[in-house]
Formats: sequence, C-alpha cells, structure tokens
Amino acid sequence: MDKKEIIEKHRRYLFSCVANYYEEPLVVERAKGSYVYDAEGKQYLDFFGGIVTISVGHCNDTVTRAIQEQTEYLQHLSTLYPNEPHVRLAEKLAQITPGRLQKSFFTNSGTEANETAVLIAQLHTQCQDVIALRHGYSGRSHLAMSLTGHAAWRLMPAPAPGIHHIANAYCYRCPFGLTYPSCNLKCAKDMEEAIRTTTSGRIAAFLAEPIQGIGGLITPPKEYFQEILSIVRKYGGLFICDEVQTGWGRTGGKMFGIEHWGVEPDVMTFAKGMANGAPIGATIATPEVADSMQGMSISTFGGNPVTSAAALATIRVIEEEGLVENARVMGQRLRDGLEHLKGKYPVIGDVRGMGLMQGLELVGENKKPDAEAVRRLMEQTKAHGLLIGRGGLMGNVIRITPPLNITRDEIDRALKILDLSFSHLGL
Ligand SMILES: Cc1ncc(COP(=O)(O)O)c(C=O)c1O
Repeated sequence: MDKKEIIEKHRRYLFSCVANYYEEPLVVERAKGSYVYDAEGKQYLDFFGGIVTISVGHCNDTVTRAIQEQTEYLQHLSTLYPNEPHVRLAEKLAQITPGRLQKSFFTNSGTEANETAVLIAQLHTQCQDVIALRHGYSGRSHLAMSLTGHAAWRLMPAPAPGIHHIANAYCYRCPFGLTYPSCNLKCAKDMEEAIRTTTSGRIAAFLAEPIQGIGGLITPPKEYFQEILSIVRKYGGLFICDEVQTGWGRTGGKMFGIEHWGVEPDVMTFAKGMANGAPIGATIATPEVADSMQGMSISTFGGNPVTSAAALATIRVIEEEGLVENARVMGQRLRDGLEHLKGKYPVIGDVRGMGLMQGLELVGENKKPDAEAVRRLMEQTKAHGLLIGRGGLMGNVIRITPPLNITRDEIDRALKILDLSFSHLGL
C-alpha cells in the first residue's frame, strides 16, 4: 500500500478516536535505533519513542534476538503452567524494585496494571475509596478512565464510584495560587482535608505518577511525596506508584522515578518501556498486599514467554549498557539546551521534567496556554526530521522522551532542529 492508501484505510476502518499526529499523518515504514523512516524513506530522529516506550532503541538487536529465540521455542502456554521466562522476569522485578515489593502479576498494558493495583489495594484494605491526582492519566478501561484526571481522556458517561481527585503539584500554575517553597506544600497537605471530607475517613490507596506524563511533565517538589504519604498512611491507605512512563531509568540516575523522592510504594505499576514495544503490563506489590487477591484471576497473555523474554532482554540492555546513567548525563545535556532555548524564545514558559523525560510548556502573554504554538511547532519539527510529543490539560506542552541510549550528537541535533523550528514560529 502507498502512503495515501494507508491513511485512507486508517480513516475508514479504525475508530475515529484512533487519532494521528500532524496535518498529514506520518506513515512510518520502518525504524532502527533512534530513527524512524517514512514511506518515502525520509529519516526522522525519534524523540518521543512510540509514546515513551522505546527504551533501548527501535528494533534493538538484543531484544529482537530474544523475541525470535523464544518464539521458536515456546510462544504461549498461559499461566496455568509455570514457565522460565515468566518466573525469571518476576524474580528480576523483585530484585530491582525498591523496598519490600516482591510479588508480580503480569498483564498486557498499563491500564490493566493499574486496574490490578487498585483491586489489590481495595481487597487488602477492605475499603473502596481511592485518591488520584488531577491531570493524571491511568489508562482507558472504565476504572482507569475514572482515575484519570483529564477530561479529554474520560469518555465514560458514568465514572466508577469511590474515586476522588485532589490538586496536583503543578508549581508553574499552582492550583492554590501559591509559590514554592513558601506554599508550604499546600497541595500535599490538602490530602487530609480531601480524606476527611470526601471519603468515609479511610482510604484504600493514593495513586500517582511520580511525574505526570500525559498531564504535561508535571514534576512535584522534592518534599512532596514524603509529605503526602505521611497523610495517606495515617488514614490506612496504600501508595500505588504508576511507573508506566517514569520507570526503567527514564528519569536518569535511578531505575524508578519515585526513587528520586525517597519513599517506598506498596504497589508499583509498569508497561510501555519495560519491554521496548512488546505489549506488557506489570503490577508488583509487597507480599501481604499481593496475597490479598485470592480466588480466580487470570490474564491469558499476561506473563507470556515471548513478552517476558522481550522484557528481560530490555532490562538486560538497560543494565549492561549503563543506560540509567546515560539518561542522567544526556538528560542534563538536553535540559541545558532546552533552558537555553527558553532564554531565546518567550513562547517557552516553563521547562520541566527529569532525565530523558522533559517538557516545554508553551504560552502567550500572562502565561496564556498556547496549544496552537505546539501544533505549529510540531509541523516544523516534522518538516526538519524530528518527532516530539504533546500533552498537558490544555494541550500546550511539548513532550520530549528519546530512547535511553540516545547519544550526545543526537541530543545536539534535536536541539538544533528545535531551535530552527522555534525560530520559524516567530514567537
Ligand atoms: C502514566 C500512565 N499510566 C497508564 C497508562 C496506560 O497504559 P496503556 O496505554 O498501556 O494501557 C499510560 C499510557 O499512556 C500512562 O502514561
């Protein structure tokens, strides 16, 4: 099929919510390392990585080999029969996740990972109420959409009961009109008021991403999670940490995003970058929380030997090639370059994020969100051969998440394209 035919069939045969980026959608034919190639052979430097999923480069040889070898050996069995890749992956997660996290349940997506997390928290505490953050994103099932604090992604007419949203730590636009640090972390302290006024006085869990990805790279201050978790624990709640975007070294210097805040989750969820593009979801919990889920539950494809082999190979590459450290060093180089662009272009109101998970909030006068500037910038970067993402409640945040094995030259090249693209906006 040629490009035109693919775009036409996409429109005709897929749900219309399966939206594409760009005025003329980009039909990608193949990808390798940090690059993707369109139907005409044009090369693009990929700084979005299939929505924060390509951890170790497109079609990474080690991951591809692991998938091929496992496919020839044992493809599917279900969890009714123990198999080696499944248990090796579970053991690996228990070894590298922080604190007492030890037992895993595997599924196929971040949505299911969060569903599982909330279910075990509710079973463990025998309580239904869950607190989530405004602007957060948790997935597309009924429960995950209900947890999501972002109207555009909440398509269900009747949300799941027992879910309450509190203000997030959005310092650039503080929900309380305060300024860090004199705010005294009002956003975290408000948790107590929320529990005492919108729940029965007990909660099952607090679910949060360390850095809100789709929400627009919202990065809480360093004391935030200590502060909020002291309240969560006081009211009997568990902390479910959604590492779907921040996991696997993405934030630089630490394997998991939450480790930057020095707190220990009771449950963690993963997907996306964990298997470099093979469909996976994982929920890990402390033994007593995990074992609260008794009785019948199964995910047919969860813990699939091929996907588990892909995840094990991805984690091996991250560890053996020192990519957690590379994300820190390259992330700093990227951040310095973005701060430089902020000094040059007034349309960049804020630069935020950590490691190789950076965002630019684009604004007009008086911080007015400028989603149109994001749209125009993305057309420019595409024309110059760079892929980036967008996010934020107002659609005015650029998301930059290259593979963790990105090189210095590639960072510099992306910054040059961004500079050139911003210069064309004239803002
Ligand atoms: C933080 C976070 N949690 C959960 C999900 C849902 O993951 P999935 O799309 O694999 O269901 C996403 C997806 O973007 C996400 O960003």
